[in-house]
Amino acid sequence: MCADCIHYPNWTDAMMITLPPELITYLKKATRVAALTGAGVSQESGLRTFRDAQAGLWAQYRPEDLATPGAFARDPKLVWDWYAHRRESAKFAKPNAGHYALAAMEKYIPEFTLITQNVDGLHRVAGSMNVLELHGNILNVRCSECGTFDDNWGDDSLAVPRCKKCNGLMRPDVVWFEESLPRAQLDAAVNAMHTCQVFFSIGTSGVVHPASALAHAAKAEGAVVVEINAEPTPLTAKADFAFHGKSGEILPDLVKAVWGG
Ligand code: APR
Repeated sequence: MCADCIHYPNWTDAMMITLPPELITYLKKATRVAALTGAGVSQESGLRTFRDAQAGLWAQYRPEDLATPGAFARDPKLVWDWYAHRRESAKFAKPNAGHYALAAMEKYIPEFTLITQNVDGLHRVAGSMNVLELHGNILNVRCSECGTFDDNWGDDSLAVPRCKKCNGLMRPDVVWFEESLPRAQLDAAVNAMHTCQVFFSIGTSGVVHPASALAHAAKAEGAVVVEINAEPTPLTAKADFAFHGKSGEILPDLVKAVWGG
């Protein structure tokens, strides 16, 4: 653990965070802030994180074995059904207090970039505007051949829907393992990392590149790095401030402590 880091014990429901004065000063003065979010931010909206054990029918599969081009080529219906199952959960999920706190933060900070690994779309539902969806959006579907999007398909169809243009198999508009991230989103995220004064890493295990490299790069370029996560991660030792607890509790307290909002 680095000497100048401040690490907070695990959260209890009763606690309201007491922010170190230097963090309050940084955030009050900050004009350029970037925040990277992961599945942990949506956990309090009832959506499983990537490393949570899967449930029901899907308990026998690992996400890493389904979210790949090879899995889709081998068994498109299995992969399609897994995403249809997750899409249903995402459709009924509501943003939690952590999502709303990040949307509020964007209003207080002149240049705020929200970089998310999540595909559930909840940041936009909560009102965040400048959102970079590095791993796509599960609510969108595109042709695996010609890339044409479709917004009207039947999830309960017996077969994987086909493209109305080229008859190719439709697929979720998400980034699978072994696939490249959308160039424009990644470039914008790297730019935000280069220019930010404070970089938040929230609800992510920080193990999947290239997203996980952003916080470390921001730190190397002199940004103040703040981690908010239920448990320590490979970033914790490098973070300037690390809060271990639920983002849906810590983020609203942080916004209230700094901006009174
Ligand atoms: N508040 C804060 N953190 C939480 C909460 C919560 N309520 N619940 C869980 N967490 C933390 C977990 O402790 C874990 O460290 O969120 C993190 C979620 O980590 P992962 O499940 O690995 O999800 P994520 O980091 O988003 O995965 C990154 O990996 O599998 C790929 O493409 C997939 O986007 C995903 C990427």
